[in-house]
Amino acid sequence: MDEKDDISHESTPLVKGSPRGKFWHWCKTHKLIVIPVVVMILLLPLLGLLALNKQHARADYTSPIIYPSPQGYGAGNWTDAYTKAHAMVSEMTLEEMNNITLGVVDGSTGCVGVSGSVPRLGFPGFCLHDAGNGVRNTDGVNAYASGLHVGATWNTSLAYERAVFMGAEFKRKGVNVALGPVVGPIGRIAEGGRNWEAFAADPYLDGILGAQSVRGLQQSVIASVKHFVAYEQETNRNPIAGEDNTTQSTSANLDDQTMHELYLWPFQDLMYAGAGCVMCSYNRINNTYACENSKTMNGILKGELNFQGFVVSDWAGQHSGLSSANAGLDMAMPTSGYWDKNQLANAVNSGDFNKTRLVDMATRIIATWHQFGQNETGFPALGVGMPPDLLAPHNYTDAKDPAARSSLLQQAIEGHVLVKNSNNSLPLNRPKVLSIFGYDAISQSMYNPDGTGLFKQDWEVLSLNSQQGMDIGSNAPVENPPQTAQGVLYVGGGSGSNTPAYISAPYDAIQARAYDDGTAIFSDFTSNEPAIVASSDACLVFINEYASEVWDRPGLADSKSDNLVSHVASTCNNTVVVIHNAGIRLVDAWIENPNVTAVIFGHLPGQDAGRAVAQILYGDVSPSGRLPYTVAKQASDYGKLQSACQAKDSKDPTSPQCNFDEGVNVDYRNFLAQKIRPRYEFGYGLTYTTFDYSNLNIKINATASANNTVLAPVYTNGTTDQNSKTDGVSNGGLQSLFDSVGSIQATIANTGKVAAAEVSQLYIQIPASYLNAKNPRTQVLRGFQKVTIQPGDSTTVTFPLRFKDVAIWDVVRQAWVIPVGEFKVFVGKSVLDTPLEGTFST
Ligand code: BGC
Repeated sequence: MDEKDDISHESTPLVKGSPRGKFWHWCKTHKLIVIPVVVMILLLPLLGLLALNKQHARADYTSPIIYPSPQGYGAGNWTDAYTKAHAMVSEMTLEEMNNITLGVVDGSTGCVGVSGSVPRLGFPGFCLHDAGNGVRNTDGVNAYASGLHVGATWNTSLAYERAVFMGAEFKRKGVNVALGPVVGPIGRIAEGGRNWEAFAADPYLDGILGAQSVRGLQQSVIASVKHFVAYEQETNRNPIAGEDNTTQSTSANLDDQTMHELYLWPFQDLMYAGAGCVMCSYNRINNTYACENSKTMNGILKGELNFQGFVVSDWAGQHSGLSSANAGLDMAMPTSGYWDKNQLANAVNSGDFNKTRLVDMATRIIATWHQFGQNETGFPALGVGMPPDLLAPHNYTDAKDPAARSSLLQQAIEGHVLVKNSNNSLPLNRPKVLSIFGYDAISQSMYNPDGTGLFKQDWEVLSLNSQQGMDIGSNAPVENPPQTAQGVLYVGGGSGSNTPAYISAPYDAIQARAYDDGTAIFSDFTSNEPAIVASSDACLVFINEYASEVWDRPGLADSKSDNLVSHVASTCNNTVVVIHNAGIRLVDAWIENPNVTAVIFGHLPGQDAGRAVAQILYGDVSPSGRLPYTVAKQASDYGKLQSACQAKDSKDPTSPQCNFDEGVNVDYRNFLAQKIRPRYEFGYGLTYTTFDYSNLNIKINATASANNTVLAPVYTNGTTDQNSKTDGVSNGGLQSLFDSVGSIQATIANTGKVAAAEVSQLYIQIPASYLNAKNPRTQVLRGFQKVTIQPGDSTTVTFPLRFKDVAIWDVVRQAWVIPVGEFKVFVGKSVLDTPLEGTFST
């Protein structure tokens, strides 16, 4: 448009010389400036709308700010420890307080983290070390059964015993804080890389076994319960620095009810058990990093759950200075560029940071030290048995207790789950000829410290290619990670791995049997199409499913191993498959082949893998493990809960979003909600006998609290007066949540010919709709009892119920309430096999 046209369209001719006219004249002569400005002005509202829209999308998933951070005050049995801590911290300078809140790297020990110390006042600092399955990366230690394996045992006393022995090893090695147990991830996604570190894809089972582990570990050391909270995938677990921008960690977006009824649930049990330390996780929760999330740390953990110990960051999981401190982080590991060089002390002096918080951080750390008697003489020197380099001369500290041996073996045995046994293929009966196949039947070909002087029973032994190594170095998702590992898979990879003094492989143990029975053994551990001796009474195939910290698994079965099984089964009509699986492993490629007569999920048994599986194969003991997760018929049955959320699927790929909109319906609840029949359901497992259930007896005296107008939470969720409202509140929060509301009983008879342990399970369907309306509320595990019964005998099992077991989280009242209505009760052998059913009403 030229000037003439422009004027001709004006309705009111402009008078040259008037201010308005001058303005228009100026505009016409400065078009280059005016046009972009006008365009900008016109676009502004649109940009605003877009921004609002984006904000709105985010607004669904923002984490509320909860300040100030509740101060530890010595609740419950922490009173003495706080008295001593107050006395000690009152003598510290601000700089000394600051110093103990972060790690120092001095390289003199093999501890994965060492905190600052105050030698002047006698505080030597802490050695913090991995992990939940035993002491990692050193000599003279045992490899205990991994978390998932313990989950498969469903044995609470064994979980306790395991932790007692494990804790004592940490202590002998001079470790103050054992970085475990793991109750997050829970196992939201089937391919989750760290699902094997926790016990079960169910909060109740996780909570019970995790609490036992805390009690056991804390006989000797401080347990650091991890990873808090909603840390459900490895993919994008840490920020990735790019040239133009940083890709943030994935945000776990979840509602308050899902938080309480699923992800927080086990943590509360572990806090009730008195855990001294909690590790905040790498992920973001509703778009705020876990280690600077004031809602989860101040509001929930220190407020609602009344946690008296200290919160440590996952390694390099701290992303801010004062924000993380104000949000409730007490210690940053393994170092901190945000808190070092007296930054917190200086901030107090300049008035930017409240001194009360710094004092509370130091007090929580020192109180925990006192609470677990580590101030007493006799506690081993920091990291004393943890040499930084095993190849260099060092004093060998044998941390193993011979008394642990029978427990180690028992743990290994009880986590095996027999899922198929046709034609009574198992137990083996003095076979004349056995053929053994598979890369998992033998020990690792290399089990030795590498060039760095440390063991690497983790991803390094798997010969990753250089690109994968670079991906790990930069936190980028690892492409095509390995799904199997050479050698019997007795533990998964990463910081949860461990390095036992010996490894018993299946082949070793079966060879010893061959000696006793006069069996001839043929074997091939390398070929994927081995030749098969026709006289074989049975063909044993050992395969595995590897998983590691840092990446999520690329699938739920690998075709190479499946082909090996199918190949053997094509010739051998008594093919027995054992899978050492670090997570869910599908079997549908060959499970219906009639020549595959028996299948065992062997999980991650620890150092006695071979010895344990031999006892089951030969029938010295009847299998007693049950699945702590759901095995589907096909991967797609998990739906969106099969794989990790990917950054590229988010609107803004630099801010990956993962919406947990399935609510509490993960694993078996997802299958119940979707009405999909799995291959092997949660709780399932066979043994060498049969059990009958009878006499359901429901003795519940729960009264509905849903309509109770006087009921109000005794705690105030993270508000400033949290510390003055402590009636009925102690470790783990409101104590009445753990009060008994009665029990349910059943009689179980062993109707077969051999002794065996049954894992009886109680599921309850709570009569309340779920806030997340599109997700139905399914029955949930609320009790289990493992009992050994002799053939012909019967026994009565009792499932005690706590208030919280029959309650739901009321988001509006911020309280657990027992709803009004009829509760359905299911008792039996698995979530889908419950011969006893009944009801009770509130
Ligand atoms: C893991 C933690 C572990 C820590 C120290 C982190 O990468 O997520 O579980 O305790 O390293 O090794």
